[in-house]
Amino acid sequence: MDYRCFIAVVLASAIAEIVASNTSETATAGTTEPENGTSETELPSLCSVCNCEDDNVDCANKTLTDHFKDVQWPNKAIKVASFNGNLLVHVKQFPQIEIRKLILQRNKITKIDHRAFKQIINLTELDLSHNQLTSENLQPQVFEGKFSMADYEPLGKLLILNLAHNVLHSLHQDLFEHMTSLKVLNLSWNLFTKIDSRTSLAISSLLNLEELDLSYCGLKTLPDSQFQSFRYLKKLELSGNRLTSPPSALEEATVLEALYLDENPIQIIGPDHPHRFPAMTKLKLLSLCCMPYLTTVGPQAFSGLASLENLTINNCPKLETIDDYALANLKNDTEGPVWPPLKKLDLSDNALRYLPQLFVARWDWLEELDLMNNKWSCDCNNQYLINRLLPKYGSKLMGKQMNLLTCALPPEHAGKNLISLSNRKLRCLDLNGARPEKDATILIGVLIGIMLAIPVCLTIFIFWRRGFFFCGSQNPASFSRAFYKRTMNDEEY
Ligand SMILES: *[C@@H]1O[C@H](CO)[C@@H](O)[C@H](O)[C@H]1NC(C)=O
Ligand SMILES: *[C@@H]1O[C@H](CO)[C@@H](O)[C@H](O)[C@H]1NC(C)=O
Ligand SMILES: *[C@@H]1O[C@H](CO)[C@@H](O)[C@H](O)[C@H]1NC(C)=O
Ligand SMILES: *[C@@H]1O[C@H](CO)[C@@H](O)[C@H](O)[C@H]1NC(C)=O
Ligand SMILES: *[C@@H]1O[C@H](CO)[C@@H](O)[C@H](O)[C@H]1NC(C)=O
Ligand SMILES: *[C@@H]1O[C@H](CO)[C@@H](O)[C@H](O)[C@H]1NC(C)=O
Ligand SMILES: *[C@@H]1O[C@H](CO)[C@@H](O)[C@H](O)[C@H]1NC(C)=O
Repeated sequence: MDYRCFIAVVLASAIAEIVASNTSETATAGTTEPENGTSETELPSLCSVCNCEDDNVDCANKTLTDHFKDVQWPNKAIKVASFNGNLLVHVKQFPQIEIRKLILQRNKITKIDHRAFKQIINLTELDLSHNQLTSENLQPQVFEGKFSMADYEPLGKLLILNLAHNVLHSLHQDLFEHMTSLKVLNLSWNLFTKIDSRTSLAISSLLNLEELDLSYCGLKTLPDSQFQSFRYLKKLELSGNRLTSPPSALEEATVLEALYLDENPIQIIGPDHPHRFPAMTKLKLLSLCCMPYLTTVGPQAFSGLASLENLTINNCPKLETIDDYALANLKNDTEGPVWPPLKKLDLSDNALRYLPQLFVARWDWLEELDLMNNKWSCDCNNQYLINRLLPKYGSKLMGKQMNLLTCALPPEHAGKNLISLSNRKLRCLDLNGARPEKDATILIGVLIGIMLAIPVCLTIFIFWRRGFFFCGSQNPASFSRAFYKRTMNDEEY
C-alpha cells in the first residue's frame, strides 16, 4: 500500500508540473498539497493532459514520465492510445479498459513489469519500438495474461508486436509463449548479428505468424530449420543484413508470398550451391534492391519461383548481365521451359546492357516495366528490346519513361534514345565493341606485322638453306644430299 501511495504522490506532482503551465488548470490542480495523502479522485484526468478525440487517446510528445494511474484513464473503449515520443522508462500495469492499439514507441523504456498488459481488453497491437529494451529485461512474464485456473491465459487477441529499434541480442526461448495468436512480429534494427538457438526457438514458437521482419539485424546466416514450423508465413523481410548468399533455409518457407532481401552483400545468384536461390513455389514478390556487390544473375537463378508476379532488381551498380533463362524452369522435360506469370518487372538503376527476349515468357502479360538508368547497348543483341518490345509494348508498360531510355553503347549510338533506333537494323558488335578507331589500329598493326615478317622469313629461309641453324643428320644439307644422291643414282642409268 505504501508503495502505491508513493507512486500516486510522485505522479500527482509530475502531472501538476505539466499542467502548471496552463493557468486555468492550476486553479484546481494547484490546491492539492503534494505532501498530503492525495486521494485518487483529485488526480487530473488523462484527457486534461492529452488529446482525447473520438476513440483515441493521443499523449504523443508530452515529455511524460508515466502512463497515468488507472483512475485517470477515461472509462471508455479506446481504439488507439499513443504515448509516442515521451520519457517513459518503466512500464507498469495498464488499467482494465479496452485499448485496441497501444503505442509506446520512442520512449526510453528499459523495464516492463510482469503482466503489464494482462488487464487490457482486446489488445491487438502493441508497439514497443524505438526503446532500450535488452534481452535481459524482456522476460516471458511481461506478456502474461490473466491468471485463471492453474495457468496464465495468453494475450489471446494480440496480433501485432513491434520490438524494432531496441537493443536485443537474443530472445528468451519462451518469450512469446503467451501470444499464441500473434501474426506480425517486427524485430528489425536490433543487435542480433546471429539467430542463436534460444532466439530461433522463440520465433519458431509463433505458429500463426504471417509476417516477420528481421531486417537490419546484422545476420550473416539463418538457422537451417528456422522456417519449418511456420505454416502461414507470408511476408519476410531480411533487408540490410549481411547475407552473402541466398539463404537456403528459405526452402522450408513453403507458403511465403513476399520476400525482401534488399541491401545484402550477395554477389552471385546462380544455379548451384551456394548461390542457388531457394525454391518457393508460392512466392509472388521478390525484392532485391540496392545490392552493392551483385554482379551475376545466372541461368535458372529463380527457376523455383513458379508464381512470381512482382520482381524488383534495382539499384545494383555492378549488375551487368542477367541470364536469358534466369526465370525459366528448364527441368520439366515434358512441357519444355516454364516461366512464372510475371506482371511487374523493375530492373532500373543497374548496369545492364542487354534485355534478352527469353527473360520473360509473355511480355504481353506484363503490366509494368521499369528499365531506366542502365547501360543499354544498342547493337544486334538487343534487337528484341529495341526493334520489338519498345515499339509494341513500350508505352503501355512504361508510359513516357520510354522516351528517356538511352543507349550507353556503342559510341556511334551513345546518348541516343532507344526508341529512335526502333526502325534501324542494328549492327553487331565485333570483339572491340564496334570501335572503328580500334579496328584501324589493329589493321595497321597487322600490316606492319606482315611487312616485317616477310624480310625476316626470307632471311631465315636463306640461312636455313645454307644449313646455319641445324646440325646432325637431319639438317637441310643432308636432305639435299639425299636428293642429290637419288638424282645422281638416276643419272647413273
Ligand atoms: C489550457 O486549458 C484550456 C482548458 O482547460 C485549454 O483549452 C487550453 O488549450 C490549455 N492550454 C494549454 C497551453 O495547455
Ligand atoms: C490532508 O489529509 C487529511 C487526513 O487524511 C485531511 O483531513 C485533510 O483534509 C487533507 N488536506 C487536504 C488539503 O487535502
Ligand atoms: C512527435 O515529435 C516527433 C519528432 O519531433 C514528430 O516527428 C511527430 O510527428 C510528433 N508526433 C505527434 C503526434 O505530434
Ligand atoms: C472485443 O472485441 C470484439 C470484436 O473484436 C467485441 O465483440 C467485444 O465486445 C470486445 N470486447 C470488449 C470487452 O469490449
Ligand atoms: C518494422 O518496424 C520498422 C521500424 O519501425 C518499420 O520501418 C517497418 O516497416 C516495420 N516492419 C513491418 C513489417 O511492419
Ligand atoms: C511490387 O513490389 C514493390 C516493392 O518491391 C512495390 O513497391 C510494388 O507496389 C509492388 N507492386 C505490386 C503490383 O504488387
Ligand atoms: C511438368 O509440367 C506439367 C504440366 O504443367 C506438370 O504437371 C508436371 O508436374 C511438371 N513436371 C515437373 C517435373 O515439374
